[in-house]
Amino acid sequence: MRDSYGRTIDYLRVSVTDRCNLRCIYCMPESGIPHIDHSAILRLEEIQCLVELIHEALTLRKIRITGGEPLVRRGIVSLVKGISPLAETVMTTNGILFPENAADLRAAGLSRVNISVDSLKDEVIRKVTRRDVTLNMIEKAIEAAKENSLDPIKLNCVVLKGVNFGELSDMIRWAEDMGTTMRFIEHMPMTGSVCSYVPRDEILREISAGMGQAEQIATEGTADMYVTDSGIKFGIIAPVAGGMCANCTRLRLTAEGELLPCLAGGESLNLRDMLRSGSSESEIISAVRDLVAKKPHHGACGGVSMWRIGG
Ligand code: 5AD
Ligand code: SF4
Repeated sequence: MRDSYGRTIDYLRVSVTDRCNLRCIYCMPESGIPHIDHSAILRLEEIQCLVELIHEALTLRKIRITGGEPLVRRGIVSLVKGISPLAETVMTTNGILFPENAADLRAAGLSRVNISVDSLKDEVIRKVTRRDVTLNMIEKAIEAAKENSLDPIKLNCVVLKGVNFGELSDMIRWAEDMGTTMRFIEHMPMTGSVCSYVPRDEILREISAGMGQAEQIATEGTADMYVTDSGIKFGIIAPVAGGMCANCTRLRLTAEGELLPCLAGGESLNLRDMLRSGSSESEIISAVRDLVAKKPHHGACGGVSMWRIGG
């Protein structure tokens, strides 16, 4: 369905849990995370039902399963099996639990996966994730995705001054060697996260200093794609510097059943309450369509809690 700015809203991101097995510094505070009551979180059957109704309202092209970390939610494989017949189904994961799940996810109809990689150095990865994660664990996830044809694989790196900013060129080369594509994401100021923001132009200058002038080739969804002098592709996603709104086709369903058309604010809709209070299918479908028609265009995204809404 088209919104009032002429954008076709056909990409649903579904956060299946607010929980995570890591505590990335750009995403979560170390402790004191507000615990969402279990009953406030959608049951898997509720997620399935709402995704079906949203699909009926909008005709989805793509569904991304996110979290927190989606693989910490029990029953996730059967959810993928249930929703993958509706639209192309992909996942964003930190990769830790991915190898043992890859084959089942593939069999359930998952088509691709994005994996987080914030450094090539174990000590930096540990500092970022606040857990005992190594590059080898992430490489195993990438290999498992390749072995199960869950590709092309995109790797997400949140660029952090004083943390991984000096490694960007090395990461681009490493990702190419792994047969994947690196995408650098501007850090969005989050409630509870503690890092400094590097704007798109500075990311690009740093990469050009390391690898020669990069040339912009295209946009892929909200990512600006570039190619280096040596012919390697990489992407930059700039939610803060802005410019993504014109190409933003997405809608988010939080783990608590809130449907959010935009990160930067505006109206939302509590589908969990509608479902639990017995709203009819046609009421839910028309509420979704009314909300999507009003999806805002702010110019840039805002500061929110990613683990709750599904980065
Ligand atoms: N800024 C930008 N991206 C973020 N993510 C999480 N928190 C932030 C943030 N503050 C993204 C990361 C991660 C994915 C799950 O969400 O890319 O890989
Ligand atoms: Fe977990 Fe992803 Fe947030 Fe890191 S970014 S803490 S892996 S949800």
